[in-house]
Amino acid sequence: MEFSTQTTAGLQQVRSAALGVGVFADGVLTPAAEVIDRASEGAISAVLKTEFKGKANSHLVLRNLPGIKAERVIVIGLGKQETYRAAGHAAAEQTFASVCAGLNVTEGVSTLAGVECEQTTLRSRARAMALAGRRSTYRYDLTRTKDLEPAPRLKKLSLWVSRSNAAEAQVGLTEGSAIGNGVNLARLLGDMPPNHCTPTYLGETAKKLGKEFKSLKVEVLDRKKIEAEKMGSFLSVARGSDEPPVFIVLRHTPKSGKAKGKAPLVLVGKGLTFDSGGISIKPSANMDEMKYDMGGAASVLGTMRAVAELELDREVIGLIAACENLPSGRANKPGDVVTSMSGQTIEILNTDAEGRLVLCDALTYAERFNPEAVIDIATLTGACVVALGHINSGLFSKDDELANELLAAGQETGDTAWRMPLDDAYQEQLRSNFADMANIGGMPAGSVTAACFLSRFTTAYPWAHLDIAGTAWKSGKDKGATGRPVPLLTQFLIARS
Ligand code: BES
Ligand code: MN
Ligand code: ZN
Repeated sequence: MEFSTQTTAGLQQVRSAALGVGVFADGVLTPAAEVIDRASEGAISAVLKTEFKGKANSHLVLRNLPGIKAERVIVIGLGKQETYRAAGHAAAEQTFASVCAGLNVTEGVSTLAGVECEQTTLRSRARAMALAGRRSTYRYDLTRTKDLEPAPRLKKLSLWVSRSNAAEAQVGLTEGSAIGNGVNLARLLGDMPPNHCTPTYLGETAKKLGKEFKSLKVEVLDRKKIEAEKMGSFLSVARGSDEPPVFIVLRHTPKSGKAKGKAPLVLVGKGLTFDSGGISIKPSANMDEMKYDMGGAASVLGTMRAVAELELDREVIGLIAACENLPSGRANKPGDVVTSMSGQTIEILNTDAEGRLVLCDALTYAERFNPEAVIDIATLTGACVVALGHINSGLFSKDDELANELLAAGQETGDTAWRMPLDDAYQEQLRSNFADMANIGGMPAGSVTAACFLSRFTTAYPWAHLDIAGTAWKSGKDKGATGRPVPLLTQFLIARS
């Protein structure tokens, strides 16, 4: 799929199978809609009197309008003008792209990015358009043989802008396209069944990225090498399964010199390709969804793909600790004490709190890069879903500047996070009588004590933690991975470059 700008002067002259124009609630026309309305002798005003109210996420297809060269005009509802911001625009572009994909056309032209609104620039609006385009063509069919949805034929989306704005728009389109590719990679890995997407498969996916992108060097450590690094906590979780663990290191080195000498940014992903809970086994209902417990790892792979495709002028390192959490004769037992790579000992009181056990060693491994900052991404706690639902990812950091940058990147991309507390006072809940710490902190503030646990392994660098338990996938009829927080992470890295 291709994204470009279209600078034809008169909108009514644009030849396209689908021309998207926006209308606000209460019938307020955007400039593009006004041009079409005038050229078509009031075709849009007419439907506004009857079936179309401009509600957010609504649309109407108008065919063969008089005076208009485009075959179809897709009128997109933008909702109330007063509240129309980055998220509203992103949703409108998504509606347009999805309608194009659904109509089975091969190309479309959107005018939506031309509508200025708070929190955005033309570049960020163009980025949202390309991201929506990529999302609209995602289909999961790897392990289906029947009732396949036909793959959309959509091959090209164009952004209608003035000639003088085309260059800025093109920058945004390139970014959105790369972010979209990263999002779709993360979605595919998440949606894959856990007997297909194993730790080994994640390692192979990383190696494939290394072959595809020159800037990426990839190393996959096997069990022996993980043992040599003394990752005793990670290995204790991995031991419960016959599926071998891997530790993945992806390194993006920029070509040019500007980024030279700058400390790298490190992303760390939780890669549980299946979490049964182990001996502290989970209830059966919806346990299949624990295939998504590698969402953090998937977002690291997706973001590294985007970073490499954009040839970002910044060294970025991705680390992934991948294994399964299963009950077996060799699995962790409640009461076991393990020694982490940092030397700190951990009493395992619940084997289902395994994410922090694999992440703590990955966070210690990150020290060797002398990073400017480390961000870990994990489907870490059910408690985070209770706190924030499926709207915001949980953000934990003691570093205000880092936290604010991540929040801003979330706002700009519509992939939002909400800051949670990380006071030392919560640390007390992790007290153990038999080790340096316990791996659970009891019922109260479960997502906070999980973050507190991780914080004990991150004293060597600025650090932030994203709990994506509520945002990495959707349950129910539309069950599927979201690819979050690839947009947030990539935007953060672009802003730091
Ligand atoms: N992967 C889960 C967290 C999770 C649960 C994410 C449900 C999304 C939906 C994690 O490994 C886990 O099991 N956490 C436990 C921690 C508890 C034992 C302290 C939890 O949240 O129940
Ligand atoms: Mn668990
Ligand atoms: Zn888990």
